[in-house]
Amino acid sequence: MYSPGLEGVVVKETRICHIDVENSKIYYRGYDLEELAARSTFEEVAFLLWRGRLPGRSELEELKSELRRGRRPPKHVEYLVRAAPPSAEPIDVLRTAVSAMAWGEDLSDKSPEAELRRGLKIAAAMPYVVAAFDRARRGLEPLDPAEAESHAEYYLWALRGERPSGREARAMDVMLIIYAEHSMNNSAFTAVAVASTLADMYAAVTAAIASLKGPLHGGANVDAARMIEEIGDARRVESWVDEQLAKGRRIPGFGHRIYKKGPDPRLKVLRELAKELAAERGDFRWVEIAERLEEYATAKLAAKGVYANTDLYAAVIFRYLGLPVDVNLPTFAVSRVVGWIAHVLEYRQANRLIRPTERYVGPVGLKYIPLEERG
Ligand code: CMC
Repeated sequence: MYSPGLEGVVVKETRICHIDVENSKIYYRGYDLEELAARSTFEEVAFLLWRGRLPGRSELEELKSELRRGRRPPKHVEYLVRAAPPSAEPIDVLRTAVSAMAWGEDLSDKSPEAELRRGLKIAAAMPYVVAAFDRARRGLEPLDPAEAESHAEYYLWALRGERPSGREARAMDVMLIIYAEHSMNNSAFTAVAVASTLADMYAAVTAAIASLKGPLHGGANVDAARMIEEIGDARRVESWVDEQLAKGRRIPGFGHRIYKKGPDPRLKVLRELAKELAAERGDFRWVEIAERLEEYATAKLAAKGVYANTDLYAAVIFRYLGLPVDVNLPTFAVSRVVGWIAHVLEYRQANRLIRPTERYVGPVGLKYIPLEERG
């Protein structure tokens, strides 16, 4: 069987995430994502995705304190991050930092507990790493705001240097919940493919970050932010889209392998969140551009099964939260790492080396001509 892009190929059975395309619903471990976004927290969702059930009060507190304890990465990683040139892309710095977290650790124990411990270590340190690099390239010292209540608040605070408002911290929390997991996407598949060789969690997450970088995947949230900035005014949306399509270019933040009959179910939550932040700031410019884009580009592209995806509104939300454009992408990783870890742990329960095949369509039996006779 040959399926270009592995479309429709089932890689594993899962209990982590169910996407009900027909009814436009996403479930994490059976819980409606919309309800989790409204009522849960990123830490609780991490526990849910990793353990398969909601935590009790003390279990949640324990996870939160483990995340707090792990915020500062090992010293050598701190040095590495601060040694990166300011021109480095933040996603590349994060990828290298996660890879370097393996240095000096005994990696022989591949039990689920040991791998989850490694995963937790990575997830806990990611916000500091991204923020420390962003500050270093602006000539600022890193921050480690110990009083931050949540992962989301800590991240925003460490990035921006001041305590975010309650609404801002909650908006980041919702973004981290929404981005945390989305079934067998390219980066989750990459993590699983690497883990299937029995390489460790650091290797799997490093590879997943590499996959996320591409503009067809996570990189689209940076391209979408640049697009919105370039358009600059909702009245320019139509001409901008027409021009891009005439040049045969793709519109970032549109299209999805799974959602070919309607928009991404997560859009509803994100659109509302973007509007709330716009209202709080009294600045509707960016959300208006996104809404006009959604309307106009959908009218142009729906016939091809192309609708808006999460990255369109994520770009707007991150702009209202004051993130530098290229930090959008590692922010996706700060969240999605939770899903990668869940997939690695699940796959390992019945591990089988991932090793697909290909169909050879080249020639055979060619006659070797010595170099001196080839001219
Ligand atoms: N703008 C314009 N046309 C598009 C777009 C787009 N964003 N996406 C797909 N198309 C067209 C594509 O050109 C093709 O047209 P034709 O049949 O005339 O050649 C048709 O729609 C089908 O495209 P496809 O490449 O076969 O679809 P796919 O399922 O392989 O691709 C995708 C999915 C996400 C790679 C693609 O939609 C895309 O490149 N989108 C832009 C980048 C983007 O926003 N990526 C984020 C995806 S969601 C979040 C995440 O995964 O991180």
